Amino acid sequence: MPEYHVVAACSELPDEGQMHVELNGKEILLVKHDGAFYAIDYYCSHEMFSLEGGDVHEGCITCPYHGAEFTLDNGSVQAAPAWESIATYPLKVENDTISISVQG
Ligand code: FES
Repeated sequence: MPEYHVVAACSELPDEGQMHVELNGKEILLVKHDGAFYAIDYYCSHEMFSLEGGDVHEGCITCPYHGAEFTLDNGSVQAAPAWESIATYPLKVENDTISISVQG
């Protein structure tokens, strides 16, 4: 069973909001989009700049630096110049808290 750790309260993340969190040495971007929460790598796989502040639309985030696009649910690349997917993390929402697992 994956081990989950509370990283934020749901109320801390507004609709279409983003938040940087750290868990077990991993930097993660929490994203709320269309009412759902996602936990993805904080850094783009292209040149490792931050994805924070990237435009989010139709289930994807666009890197603010060179425009690579990744899906929020599994991190797969949808647009160049990135070619490697980013990691995504299992997330649970319970009692107004967001928990993430970074194992595996
Ligand atoms: S660093 Fe994200 S597209 Fe270049």
